[in-house]
Amino acid sequence: MGDFSGQVALITGAASGIGLAVAKKLLADGAQVALLDFNGEALNEHFGSYGVQAHLVAIDITDEARVAEAIQAVHAHFGQIDSLVNCVGITGVTNIKSHEVTSENLHKVFEVNFMSSFYTSKAVLPFMIERRYGRILHIASIAGKEGNAGMLAYSASKAAVIGMAKVQGKEYAEFGITVNALAPAVIRTPLVDAMPEQQVTYMTDKIPMKRCGTLDEAANLVAYIVSPQNSFTTGFTFDLSGGRATY
Ligand SMILES: NC(=O)c1ccc[n+]([C@@H]2O[C@H](COP(=O)([O-])OP(=O)(O)OC[C@H]3O[C@@H](n4cnc5c(N)ncnc54)[C@H](O)[C@@H]3O)[C@@H](O)[C@H]2O)c1
Repeated sequence: MGDFSGQVALITGAASGIGLAVAKKLLADGAQVALLDFNGEALNEHFGSYGVQAHLVAIDITDEARVAEAIQAVHAHFGQIDSLVNCVGITGVTNIKSHEVTSENLHKVFEVNFMSSFYTSKAVLPFMIERRYGRILHIASIAGKEGNAGMLAYSASKAAVIGMAKVQGKEYAEFGITVNALAPAVIRTPLVDAMPEQQVTYMTDKIPMKRCGTLDEAANLVAYIVSPQNSFTTGFTFDLSGGRATY
């Protein structure tokens, strides 16, 4: 951990919150990064000064063809992709019961939270298989393990992400590629700030440490998970929940 020189990391959702913190951490540790987010302005603001070390791609991650094209271009640019961290995510409408959820919102949340991680992993895996090395991390959520009341779309989409990490972990285990998920509880980011306070209180009250996680805690754990040192753990959902989940 700590030395990513010579490595190329692709991070989605890098314009804000956890993705932003992870990108800054990996850059500080020497990685070259490709950063995907539809907020091109924020990408430029945070990473414009890194020059060639940070390749910025402003796209909607739910557009499969554009994602595949962008990842081909990233590979052509850097010549390799060592790791992928999928941080894009939305909560959709929350603080509502399942019978009030619209299928439109459910589809939208699945498209952003689950399908986008499928699109990016599908596009990077052939490059990783070729080099027999890779680290993929899908950011899931404690909601995917536990099921948060009031958050059907979000919880179910994150459970799907956890399921995908289990499948992909096994499928590429003999190729030097690890695929894991991470389940944070609550970390104060714009995603959480946009939720109804009642829903946020419901989530934070369940954390035994009685506090939110920090962006540094998230970035440090992510850096370990996608480092070469993390070589014998795959298909696993790492915990970042202040004691909320003990399994
Ligand atoms: N913050 C938390 O407490 C928490 C807890 C558990 C899990 N998570 C997960 O961590 C991940 C990051 O969350 P965050 O809190 O940093 O969120 P955030 O809202 O701060 O950042 C999400 C980023 O994704 C980008 N994005 C959203 N939809 C996109 C799309 N269609 N195409 C391209 N970019 C898109 C946004 O522009 C933004 O930069 C998410 O998957 C979230 O579900 C967060």
